[in-house]
Amino acid sequence: MAETVKKKVIFSGIQPTGVFTLGNYLGALQNWVKLQDEYRCVYSVVDLHSLTVRQDPKQLRANSLNSLALLLACGIDPEKSVLFLQSHAYTHTELAWVLDCYIPFGELSRMTQFKDKSQRHPENINAGLFNYPALMAADILAYNADLVPVGVDQKQHLELTRNVAARFNGIYGDTFVVPEPYIPKEGGKIMSLADPTKKMSKSDDNPKAFISILDTPETVVKKIKSAVTDSEAEVAYREGKDGVNNLLTIYSVCSGVSIAEAEREFASAGYGDFKLAVAEAVNARLRPVREEYARLIEDKAYLTQCCRQGAERALAISSRILTKVYKKVGLVAK
Ligand code: TYM
Repeated sequence: MAETVKKKVIFSGIQPTGVFTLGNYLGALQNWVKLQDEYRCVYSVVDLHSLTVRQDPKQLRANSLNSLALLLACGIDPEKSVLFLQSHAYTHTELAWVLDCYIPFGELSRMTQFKDKSQRHPENINAGLFNYPALMAADILAYNADLVPVGVDQKQHLELTRNVAARFNGIYGDTFVVPEPYIPKEGGKIMSLADPTKKMSKSDDNPKAFISILDTPETVVKKIKSAVTDSEAEVAYREGKDGVNNLLTIYSVCSGVSIAEAEREFASAGYGDFKLAVAEAVNARLRPVREEYARLIEDKAYLTQCCRQGAERALAISSRILTKVYKKVGLVAK
């Protein structure tokens, strides 16, 4: 009889704090889509994480459903993968509390994202922001995920997740799978178009700094034309050319050619022509996503049904793991 090989598990999440950027798409989402056939994938719109920064309630509600539609438009198939809103699975916050009790204060205070966000929002340095990585660890460990497709910026959080999983296993015996990050070789860190030493972020105050995956083709052209480069007029990937390096990376990932090939292709081109080619490659990648989104966002009944089905499936998996953890630490079964 043929032996059935158990599929490995993938977990990843994205915050519904605005329309996803090209950085989110190239660094994470396109891998989410690719991995669906080979793995058991669980993907979440992590609405609870976004509460660590003050949100407008109406806007957050709208953004959460829009984010779900965007993920579907990118190619997440709700029949193949579990797709849900984080707040619909109580297991995440309950597991986060337990994990919090196994993460040293010092480890949390070393997180660069905590330091960055505290600097950007000095008026609201709250305990949730500090504990953010514990909730993220719970997201991942509640599904015993083997792999976590993310961009480079989440590497440190993944390291903390691995540490707490290993620490817990060391005390109570094998409980959690210790997950590995899955970061693309190229595109793991797409930089801001306005300041290519900073990562592209959907919460940047300057809209010219990022491309949102729903920007019109004309807007994409305009934003890329105004991207910061340098005065050398040479399309080459090397140290000190952050702006050009970023555009070459975007071109390479969007059009599927290597950076070396792209350098050859534009060896005699000026920045103007090069930028137009980059914008075209981006638009070719984003066009089908925009079209599918426009269709899906009209179908609220379908989106609500996706949420419900996703939450049910997420809870079925994560509640088993939560029960196991409660038992291990000595809580009385219900
Ligand atoms: P978030 O919402 O900031 O971003 C979602 C994903 O996009 C990646 N990303 C980028 N990749 C390349 N270049 C960029 N400029 C860029 N900007 C963002 C991020 O690395 C991420 O993979 N903490 C997470 C959400 C989260 C999560 C989780 C992720 C919560 N729980 C569990 C994985 C597993 C975050 O804020 O992602």
